[in-house]
Amino acid sequence: MNNRSLIEVKAVSKTYRRGRLSVPALLNISFEIQPGEFVILTGSSGAGKTTLLNLLAALDWPDQGEIMVEGQNIAHLSLWSAASYRRSKSESFFRHITSFLSLLLSKTSPCP
Ligand SMILES: Nc1ncnc2c1ncn2[C@@H]1O[C@H](COP(=O)(O)OP(=O)(O)O)[C@@H](O)[C@H]1O
Ligand SMILES: [Mg+2]
Repeated sequence: MNNRSLIEVKAVSKTYRRGRLSVPALLNISFEIQPGEFVILTGSSGAGKTTLLNLLAALDWPDQGEIMVEGQNIAHLSLWSAASYRRSKSESFFRHITSFLSLLLSKTSPCP
């Protein structure tokens, strides 16, 4: 692991349980994202994209693995700490999303 990584996901697994039915969504996922990297998450429907984003937003918990965001392990936060994490990240997150959308719109031809 690189201690300058923005996000480090290490050996993360997540299985949903519906009664007695188990639905594996992520199996032993690992990756790192460095500051300034531009990342696109793709995959067919059901591949686990939403599950991964939920975990990165601390809206859900992995069964196994570590999720480090700017050095903070968010894999096993309490409800209270997860809310506090989302609050602390939301300003920078929305600032980046807004500038991304502005860039996208500025590069897109106006619709007739
Ligand atoms: N709340 C849930 N309960 C049970 N299974 C779920 C739930 N959310 C997602 N799944 C299952 O987990 C897998 C990954 O889903 P998801 O992360 O939504 O994929 P994607 O966003 O790439 O379409 C799929 O098999 C999906 O049916
Ligand atoms: Mg999805």
